[in-house]
Amino acid sequence: MTAPTIGLYGLGTMGAALALNMAEKGVSVQVANRTASAVLRFMDRAGSLAENIQGHQTLGGLIAGLPAPRLLVAMIPSTAPMDGFLDDVIGQLSPGDTVIDAGNADFHDTRRRAARLAEHGLHFVGLGVSGGEEGARHGPSMMMGGSPESWAGLEPILTRIAAKHGEDPCVVRCGPDGAGHFVKTVHNGIEYADMQMIAEVYDLLRFGGGRDVRDVSAIFKDWNAGRLESYLMETTGEVLSYADAPTNLPFIDLIEDKAGQKGTGRWTVIEAVRLGQSASMIEAAVAARAWSAEKALRGVVEETFGADRADLDLDVGLLEQAMLAARVLEYAQGFRILAAASQEYDWGLDPVRIAQIWRAGCIIRARLLDDIAEALAEEPPEGQLFLAPRFSGVLMQGIPALREVVTRAAEAGYATPVLSAALTFWDVLRQGRGTASLIQAQRDFFGRHGFERTDQDGDFHGPWWK
Ligand code: 6PG
Repeated sequence: MTAPTIGLYGLGTMGAALALNMAEKGVSVQVANRTASAVLRFMDRAGSLAENIQGHQTLGGLIAGLPAPRLLVAMIPSTAPMDGFLDDVIGQLSPGDTVIDAGNADFHDTRRRAARLAEHGLHFVGLGVSGGEEGARHGPSMMMGGSPESWAGLEPILTRIAAKHGEDPCVVRCGPDGAGHFVKTVHNGIEYADMQMIAEVYDLLRFGGGRDVRDVSAIFKDWNAGRLESYLMETTGEVLSYADAPTNLPFIDLIEDKAGQKGTGRWTVIEAVRLGQSASMIEAAVAARAWSAEKALRGVVEETFGADRADLDLDVGLLEQAMLAARVLEYAQGFRILAAASQEYDWGLDPVRIAQIWRAGCIIRARLLDDIAEALAEEPPEGQLFLAPRFSGVLMQGIPALREVVTRAAEAGYATPVLSAALTFWDVLRQGRGTASLIQAQRDFFGRHGFERTDQDGDFHGPWWK
C-alpha cells in the first residue's frame, strides 16, 4: 500500500511539529513556507525523517507536486492571511481538492470559507488541533469539520498521527464546515475555566493558607494522582516547583500577573450567548483574564481601598471535593453549548465521541473525561451531565464543599470568579421555582410584554394594566 500523501504550508512551530509527526508515522509529507529558507532549515532538522518529506521552494511547486485529490494543510493564522492564502490557491487547485485550516479559527470564518471553496468544487476543512507543540509533534487530539469526501482522504492520516487513548485514536469528524473549529473553541473555553479555577485554588492555598509554594506544588501533584488527575493539574504542580536560578525565588513570583488570550475563550462565551445559553464559568474565566490585564488600574484601587485579606486555612480535602464538583459543572456547561450549537447548525455532534477524543492529547485531558464519556453514553436525564447518576455522589459531596470554599473565601476577601460562578449556576438550577416571575412582572409593567400564569393557559397582563 502506498503511503498517504499530504501537503503542508507554513513551517512555524505547530506546522513543523505536525509535519514531523506525519513523517514519523509513515505519511508522505510535502512542505513549503512563505520564506523558502525555512524549508531548508526544517529539512535539516528533520534528520532521518526527511526521507518521508519533500521540500518545495514555492507554494505553486507544492501544489503541483501533490497527487489528486490534493490534501493541503495551511498552518498560517486563521485570520486575514488565511483568506489571502485561499485567494492564491483557489485557481491552482482542482475540483475535489481539500484545503485544511489546522489553526484556531472562528467557526463563522470556517463556514464562510467552506461555502466559498464549495463554489469551486473544493473542500475546506476546519481542523481543531489541541495539545500545543508537544501534542502536534507526538499526538494531538483533533476535531475535524468538513465534508465526508475530505474526511475519507484525511482519516487514514489523522488516525495515524492522533494521540491514542489506549488503542483509540483521538480524532473525530465532528460534522460539516465549522463543526470542528466550534468544538475546538468550546474545548478552549473549558480550558480557560479549568485554568482559572486552578489559579483560584492556588491563591487560597498559598496566600490564604500561608503555605510555601513548594508545598502548594506538592498538593497539586498529589491531587494529580487522584480523581482530579488532568494535564492542567500536572502542569500546575510542575510550574510551581521551579525556582529562579540566581535568586532562588519561586519562579512563579517573577511572572507578571497579566494573562494573555488569543480569543477562543471569548468566542465560546459570545457563541453561548448567541445560542441563548450561558457559559458562566467560562465567562468568569475570560473576565478574570481581562481584569488581570488592567494591572495599573488594580494598583490604583489597591492603593485607594486596600488589599487586606484575612488568613484562610481551608482543608485540602475540602478544596479537592469543591474542585471536582466545579469541574463536572464546567464540562457540563461546555457540553450544553455543544448541544445547542449542534441543534442550531444541524451538525449532529456526537457528545460521547467528543468526550472520548478529549481523553488524550489535548490540553483539557482529565481522568474525569472517562466518566463523562460514559455518563453521556448512558444518556443522562434531560441530557445533562450533572443529572447523570454517576456524578450524583461527586455533587452531593462536592457542592457543600464548594459552598464552604466560596463563602469563606468571600468573607476573607479572596476572589473566586469561576468557583463562585459554579456555585451560582448550581443554586439557580436546583430551584424548581426561581425569581423570574418578578422579571416577567417588571417586563409587563413597563412594556406590556405579557407573561404566562401558573394557574391558567394563555398570555396575560398584570392588574397594573387596567
Ligand atoms: C490547545 C490550546 C491552544 C491555545 C493555547 C493558548 O488546545 O492546544 O488550546 O490551541 O492556543 O492554549 O490560548 P490562549 O492564548 O487564548 O490562552
